[in-house]
Amino acid sequence: MIAEAPTLPHILEVQGLTRYFGGLAAVSDLDLAIRPGELFGLIGPNGAGKTTVFHLISGVLPPTKGKVLFGGMDITGAPSHSLARQGLARTFQIMALFQSFTVLENVLLGTYGIVRVNPLAALFNTPRSQRIEVEQRERALQLLQFLGIERLRDEVARNLPLGHQRILEMAVALAGSPKMLLLDEPFSGLSVEEIREMMGRIAKIREGKTTIMLVEHNIRVVMDLCDRIAVLNFGGKIAEGTFAQVSQDPEVIKAYLGTKRYAA
Ligand SMILES: Nc1ncnc2c1ncn2[C@@H]1O[C@H](COP(=O)(O)OP(=O)(O)OP(=O)(O)O)[C@@H](O)[C@H]1O
Ligand SMILES: [Mg+2]
Repeated sequence: MIAEAPTLPHILEVQGLTRYFGGLAAVSDLDLAIRPGELFGLIGPNGAGKTTVFHLISGVLPPTKGKVLFGGMDITGAPSHSLARQGLARTFQIMALFQSFTVLENVLLGTYGIVRVNPLAALFNTPRSQRIEVEQRERALQLLQFLGIERLRDEVARNLPLGHQRILEMAVALAGSPKMLLLDEPFSGLSVEEIREMMGRIAKIREGKTTIMLVEHNIRVVMDLCDRIAVLNFGGKIAEGTFAQVSQDPEVIKAYLGTKRYAA
């Protein structure tokens, strides 16, 4: 009988994560534990350290101190491309698309470095490398369909309106079929209608069992989508729990939410 792999209680763990920029602690002694399949929100005022946390987890920046575990493996300081191969993908607050490439080409580029093709096989255009190319194209088109932008496949990225660029960035991050996706402000700059559609897309990605960590300032969105939330202020975690729990916390109200009431 083949023993089943034990399911870990947490897909991602951050322990004592700290990052200094000169004398400034952008992230300070942060502990987080995200469960598989969870949609976890990271919120807090401007400059609280949210994007830096994503940079530290995704290997864009090394931490000054602390550890990052993904699927139980220590990935602290591992480069982004190796993490993408292990199933951890992200989007950026300032989008990182290949502006002169088409939508489909951007998604295909998102799979490179993840799907391994022997360079010699590719050079000689062997049947195997041809088959992989066809499969990747097929998968990329399915992904565009899944996200509702298949009709834009031949548009050049730079000509897309912001809302479509944000969806494309998500498609690129999903191209390698990640186990976990880090989304940094995917709703910023979107219209009310686009926000509604984007919420639907994120819910669909999540139904596909992808664990998601979301940084977002739109509190309504965070309230509707997230299972649990951590609140950062000056690089440290000041609260954690469901939206109903953290939104009652006096320190969170003072530092971020203000006195506005958010009905559950
Ligand atoms: N490369 C850097 N060099 C120096 N300081 C930095 C650098 N990156 C971020 N900081 C500082 O670290 C702190 C945290 O920044 P970070 O971008 O992580 O905040 P944030 O929570 O994502 O803010 P926002 O909501 O505005 O996106 C800020 O004080 C910022 O000025
Ligand atoms: Mg940020």
